[in-house]
Amino acid sequence: MEIIVIDECDIDEHLDEVIRDTLVLCFPHRTDIFSKVRRWRGNTPLFNVVVRNGEIVCGYLAVLDRTIQVGPDKVRLASVGLVGVAPVYRGKRLIDSALSAAMAEAQERKFHFGLLFTHRPTNSIYARNGWLELNDRKALYIEAGKEIEIPPENVAMYYPFKEKNFPPGDIHLLGDKW
Ligand SMILES: CC(C)(COP(=O)(O)OP(=O)(O)OC[C@H]1O[C@@H](n2cnc3c(N)ncnc32)[C@H](O)[C@@H]1OP(=O)(O)O)[C@@H](O)C(=O)NCCC(=O)NCCS
Repeated sequence: MEIIVIDECDIDEHLDEVIRDTLVLCFPHRTDIFSKVRRWRGNTPLFNVVVRNGEIVCGYLAVLDRTIQVGPDKVRLASVGLVGVAPVYRGKRLIDSALSAAMAEAQERKFHFGLLFTHRPTNSIYARNGWLELNDRKALYIEAGKEIEIPPENVAMYYPFKEKNFPPGDIHLLGDKW
């Protein structure tokens, strides 16, 4: 098993295709999207973490460079998305290795915080990897020009790199979800 951290610009057509094969297995309800594109909603990753066994992509996640609004402040952060481990490789905590590679790279790139949205009980995976819940915050995004509140069953979590305390206030993604 090998873990690679790879900038988006270095992903070739073949790697893109095998990553998408894994995303289809992980998010079958999004097959129509991931069978065609990985940059869902036009979000382009800064870098990617690929866990692979030879040619097979066992696990994947994308990290985006995003600037969002938190309360009155603009905050630049490493947003983590498209986290998935292919069904036959699940239960071995491969996700921990992928997250740890992603966090090391984001720290190296001088991000102050990481941010992701998950759900219960998957939030416990991130919690054991050092992610902290942002409770009682309104979180908004924009879709087709309309402001939409992220439903409360989505759990917002942050990772403290340089800064330990996430700024107070509502979260506005200033664009689409990731
Ligand atoms: C969430 C996910 C990335 C976890 O990856 P993973 O490397 O299997 O993580 P873990 O090994 O820690 O397993 C997580 C839990 O899955 C369950 N699990 C264990 N073996 C499993 C298996 N063979 N198949 C499915 N789930 C299994 C267990 O409840 C385990 O928790 P535990 O280790 O505390 O008992 C993976 O299940 C996945 O891709 N799910 C679908 C996409 C998704 O929900 N992504 C997260 C979006 S925020």
